[in-house]
Amino acid sequence: MKSVLVLNGPNLQRLGSREPDIYGSLNFQDLTNQLLALGKALSLDLNIMQSDSEAELMAAIHEATDAKVDIVLNPAAFTHYSYALADACKAHTASGANLIEVHISNPHAREQFRHKSVISASATGVIAGFGFDSYKLALRQLSV
Ligand code: DQA
Repeated sequence: MKSVLVLNGPNLQRLGSREPDIYGSLNFQDLTNQLLALGKALSLDLNIMQSDSEAELMAAIHEATDAKVDIVLNPAAFTHYSYALADACKAHTASGANLIEVHISNPHAREQFRHKSVISASATGVIAGFGFDSYKLALRQLSV
């Protein structure tokens, strides 16, 4: 069974209560449950994590790189300014493993500061704007 790391950045544990008009009314546990159900259907072994800490996210990426595990990453606000995460993502994809950047909202349709992703150039691909389906589309892609 193929393993995939689903990594979530800062504030995403606040789903459900945080700006529900943008991120929806379902919470992080709902997201986890939906992804685990899809992972099972696609025969993917998912490790789903969330952290507000750049260092923890980087350690998880490094571990996945060493283990050659594909990643679905919602870098949240780090998308827009974390060159440290970008470097870890670059090393991951340069090693031959996949990393799909996902966003629940479409950052390009929001404030100016969200229009720039420092991560995208280091990602295999980017999926944004489809709610929780952004993650599901990424998992489907990694399952083929
Ligand atoms: C987000 C978009 C980011 O701009 C924001 O900082 C987030 C969530 C999204 O999933 O739409 O925290 O990554």
